[in-house]
Amino acid sequence: MEKFVIHGGKPLKGEVAVSGAKNAAVAIVAAAILADEPCVLENVPEIQDINVCVKILYEMGASIKIIDKNTIRIDTRGISDPVVPYELARACRASSYFLGTLLGRFLKADVPMPGGCDLGDRPIDQHLKAFNILGARHTIDGGVVSLKADKLIGSQIYFDIVTVGGTINAMFAAVKAEGLTVIENAAKEPQIVDLANFLNSMGADIMGAGTDVIKIRGVKYLRGVTYGIIPDPIEAGTYMVAAAATKGDVYVKNVIPKHLESITDKLRKAGAFVEEFDECIHVKSEGRLMKTSFKTLPHPGFPTDMQPQFSTMLTTADGTSVVTDNIFDNRFRYVNELRRFGADITVEGTTAVIQGVSELSGATVKATDLRAGAALVIAGLMASGTTVVEEIYHIERGYENIDEKLRALGADITRVNDFDKARRVG
Ligand code: EPZ
Repeated sequence: MEKFVIHGGKPLKGEVAVSGAKNAAVAIVAAAILADEPCVLENVPEIQDINVCVKILYEMGASIKIIDKNTIRIDTRGISDPVVPYELARACRASSYFLGTLLGRFLKADVPMPGGCDLGDRPIDQHLKAFNILGARHTIDGGVVSLKADKLIGSQIYFDIVTVGGTINAMFAAVKAEGLTVIENAAKEPQIVDLANFLNSMGADIMGAGTDVIKIRGVKYLRGVTYGIIPDPIEAGTYMVAAAATKGDVYVKNVIPKHLESITDKLRKAGAFVEEFDECIHVKSEGRLMKTSFKTLPHPGFPTDMQPQFSTMLTTADGTSVVTDNIFDNRFRYVNELRRFGADITVEGTTAVIQGVSELSGATVKATDLRAGAALVIAGLMASGTTVVEEIYHIERGYENIDEKLRALGADITRVNDFDKARRVG
């Protein structure tokens, strides 16, 4: 098992380039199933969740060509059986996107219930509601969701809650349905807009992505295109917060500053200096940060995917911060690990109260999920002494070369595995 060993207490300094957005890329890779011709995807992050999605396509019969580490050619015309392999589906949340894309193309799909980060209950009732409204029937048997439709007919879908995955799946099915679908109370995250741009470039007719009403007129044919995925706002936010948390001075490049406004705003409130350029954000901080309270909300609110990293930064801020994360019911599991660094945090339900301490000291901790893992790496960078972050496979699911990128910013972070250690001891 690999782990990160971090000797903390050094400010991050320099430039870091952000990779393609995980949560856009997983949807766009799955969307290749809807294309009637091969597609070339650029700026695809080299991360584990993408490996899983590409493997699902390959196992179902798609032809995949890795052009370079961030560019993939996908030809899904060879897929004839719309069945996603069990173990692969359970390896990530985005496997649920194969429900929508397979249904759109084959009018049927068999997809095991998706896996992904354990953030509490993650139902798919809204996805199923959307499929049902468009004319599909579903059954769940032995952990496998099966969908079938004679045809898909455009209709009005009102989501009871704002759901990213539900909105994306509804878009997939509606793109190939007959007539007009109107999705109301839709999610507005950057990946929804990126997916709509990708589908529209193939010939889809989608309007309103990025607002809470998306209108989709179904089409019969989607051509192949070459498409570049947007930069990852959460990866960018993670480096911004790491810079501020370590009293660093970092230029985060290849970003869309508009996607980062809620993070920029809160960093400024905490006392960091944040400067925006066209495709770059400069974050600098000196001295102690200030208490900052926030609530996570669907986009354009503060993203739940940045909550653990930002809360970690606040553990050494001056004063008491109150953080509420209502998006998922269990997104504070990392707090137990943070306490090992000496952080003073209490959690009541979906609210954490963080009493700033003067410093963190290194500890051995376990990543409990992807963003929790990133938060623990930030804690290790902030802390004096040595930190070991175990179970880093969670982090590899969504961050491309995080250790290399941090080393280039001056961090003392090394990847070790038990085999290396055993060899040294032996
Ligand atoms: C996406 O998850 C992201 N995952 C998550 O990113 C992100 O945290 C989340 O959106 C919120 O922004 C991907 O894009 C692959 P939701 P998703 O449907 O689609 C409830 C990361 O770290 N809900 O918007 O699963 C749900 O339980 C991750 O990169 C239902 O009740 O999130 C939650 O409380 C982890 N019924 C809320 O809605 C449903 O049918 C929002 O979930 C669907 C969701």
